[in-house]
Parts: sequence; structure tokens; C-alpha cells
Amino acid sequence: LKVLLIGSGGREHALAWRLAQSHSVEKIYATPGNPGIANVAECIQAQTIEDQLAVAEARKVDLTIVGPEAPLVAGIVDRFRAAGKAIVGPTAAAARLEGSKAFSKDFMVRAGIPTARYRTVTSIEEARAALEEFGFPVVLKADALAAGKGVIVVRERAEANHSLRLLMGSKLVIEEFLEGEEVSFIVLSDGRTALPLQPTQDHKAVFDGDRGPNTGGMGAYCDSRILGASEYRQIMDAVIQPALDLMVHEANPFTGFLYAGLMMTRNGPKVLEFNARLGDPETQALMFRMSGDFASPLAAAARGDLSGVNLEWHAEPSICVVLAARGYPGEVRTGDIITGIDEAEETGAVIFQAGTRNSEKGLVTSGGRVLGVTASGADLRTAIDKAYHAAGRIHFAGMHFRTDIGARGLKRYAAEPV
Ligand SMILES: Nc1ncnc2c1ncn2[C@@H]1O[C@H](COP(=O)(O)OP(=O)(O)O)[C@@H](O)[C@H]1O
Ligand SMILES: [Mg+2]
Repeated sequence: LKVLLIGSGGREHALAWRLAQSHSVEKIYATPGNPGIANVAECIQAQTIEDQLAVAEARKVDLTIVGPEAPLVAGIVDRFRAAGKAIVGPTAAAARLEGSKAFSKDFMVRAGIPTARYRTVTSIEEARAALEEFGFPVVLKADALAAGKGVIVVRERAEANHSLRLLMGSKLVIEEFLEGEEVSFIVLSDGRTALPLQPTQDHKAVFDGDRGPNTGGMGAYCDSRILGASEYRQIMDAVIQPALDLMVHEANPFTGFLYAGLMMTRNGPKVLEFNARLGDPETQALMFRMSGDFASPLAAAARGDLSGVNLEWHAEPSICVVLAARGYPGEVRTGDIITGIDEAEETGAVIFQAGTRNSEKGLVTSGGRVLGVTASGADLRTAIDKAYHAAGRIHFAGMHFRTDIGARGLKRYAAEPV
């Protein structure tokens, strides 16, 4: 297979790295890619959907895989399919499950999927009335894609006006605050059937102990112990299958990666949001744990038939620690020289690149999340130690990272009988 990967982040580097180990893959292209992806793929500067389709046609690409949400919402899958090119991802209409929080919430209600109580409002006055109804804490969600900056948990009344002004667009979702552990549950779908990936847990806040503003994700771990067998069944039966079934019923089948962001509450799993693609950095941890040929399941999903297809996994848990640039998640400084990647990889870790660029000074920072240090171990504790040991060998000015990725898992497992 000749494969084209759309995107330029750590998620796409991890996908490229895994696909490079697939026997059925003969060549990988990436648009636009990044310096890390360039180690395993040919990177081509194509930014628009038309340019990317031209690359797929000129290079006789057999299968295209889309990393980020923006091109999905903009209709890349519709365009490729119309041109007869196989592609993994949802159509623009199906990607509204991520692209519009209001659409997504209304859909969950129609499907009977457990989610937080909510109200969609279109003015500040309506919003204030809704806040009175819900009390505090309460959650505000901008309707449209916001690259992780569209949600604010409002702890008390005094913060409400400021947050409302920040997020109020043409539509705002106001919802009930839920308590529990968050879990990322991702499946690959051919439209009807779901092939689940392993559960992961992301770390959104920038500082240790889940403090500070939210980011795109500061780290993630992947461990089968994140979900018990009955929780897993509940998620498949009450969330994933009803979602896929209703999409089919509404003549809007969902193909590609369906990501359920879940809160595991005392009353069972509830959906915080759907995403229409793989998570970042969850994918780095997932690709590290996956074994076998990932290209075949992807091709089967694009063909619309996942029956009889399986995913294979190593037993060892994996973890990804994000090394971020100075200022992230605010305004970041770029151009800082990165050293130590080879030394870090000598420990057995793999360093996925996200915000990097080549310069005359060598590899430098070029974005907020710079690198994802990814490792696995016999148990979660060992995986964590290996990742941090490798991270210690990397340097760039202003580098910061969380020191507690995976710690919530350790705490939970310590409280459980083995
Ligand atoms: N109803 C809720 N109750 C408690 N926390 C929430 C709720 N909805 C969202 N959050 C928190 O806000 C984060 C971001 O919300 P999410 O709906 O995932 O939007 P996005 O990923 O688009 O920013 C979640 O990961 C979760 O930590
Ligand atoms: Mg989210």
C-alpha cells in the first residue's frame, strides 16, 4: 500500500511510525508532515484539500488517513471519496459530532446516550437565565471548533460574566458539571461496526495535580486496567453502538475514528464530548502499545467492512509525556534549539515530534507542544519511570512538562485488589 497521512503533529508522527512497521505498507507520504515524520515518510508541502488530493492522485496513493479535525469538518473525506480515493475519516456531515457541540448534544439525546444535562443558548441574557437554573460549578462550551480553548468550567458566580464574554458566539452550550475519572475511548468504525482501541487517559491541565489552564493535552497513558470489563461493555452498549446505529438511521453514517470523551460517574459513564478523530497525545501511547499491521484494519475501515478484523496489542502499558515550549498554552516562544533526542531514544523510548522545525541551527521548537516522550514497561510504574528517564536527556530553553502523567492510574490501582 501507498499511504498518505494528513497532518503535522505528534499524533501523525506516531501514526507514521506505526505504519512504517506495517508489512503491507510500501511507502508513506505526509502533507505537510514534520521533521520527525520525515524520518519515516516523504513530506510534501500541500495545505489545501485540493492540493492534498492532487498529491494522492499524482503519487497513486491507495489509502489516506486524516489526523486533525479541521480538514474533516471542512469536507476532506467527501472530496476524496467523490474522486474515488479511499480515505479513513468521517464526512463533513458526520464530523459535526465534533464540529458542533450543540449538534452533538442534541444527537446524544436523540440516541439516548448518557450525557450531562444541558441547554443551548444564543444570547447573554438566555445564558444568564440558564446559569441560574444550573448553579455552580457549571460548564460553558462554545459551539464551534476551538482547538481545546472552547470550554470553561465556571467554579463560582463571580467568574461567570467574564467566562460568558470569552465564549459567547452565536451559540453556547451550558451544561451540568459532572464528577468522576475521565477516560478517552476510541473506536475505528466502518459505518456500522466498531473496532475498539485500548482505553487511555489524557491530562488536559498544564500543571501537576490538574492545575492551571487547559491545553491540547500534556500527556496520556494507555493501560487495559483503566476500564473494568463491565465498564467496557457499558460503554460499547450504551454509548458507541447507539451512536453508530443512530448515525446510520439518520442517513449520516460515521466512518473513521469515533472518540468518546467520557466521565466515569457514580451513575455510570457519561459522554462529555465526541471527537471525530484520534486524540493527541493519546495516539502516541496507543501506537506504542499496538502490535501487528495497522494498515490492514485501516484499509478495511475505508472499504466499509471491518468484519473479522482485529487489532493487536502488547500487554505492557504505555505512556506519553509532552515536552512543551515556554509560554504554552499561552503565547509560545519558538526557535529554541532542541538537543538529546538520540540519547533519549537510546533508553528504548520513542520521541514523537509535534512542534519542531529544521533550521540552520539544527532542530528547533516551532509550536506549543514540542515533543512526546513515549515508553512502555512491565507495569505502569515502570513505564512512567522509563518515560521520565528519557525526558531527562532532552533539553531546550523554556522546556516544561508535567511530572505526574499516569499518577492517577497508579493511585487508583493501588486502591484495587490485583
Ligand atoms: N460536564 C462536564 N463536567 C465536568 N467537566 C467537564 C464537563 N465537560 C467538560 N469538562 C471538562 O472540560 C474538558 C474539555 O471539555 P470537552 O467537552 O472535552 O471539550 P474540548 O475537548 O472540545 O475542549 C474535559 O476534558 C473535562 O475535563
Ligand atoms: Mg475534549
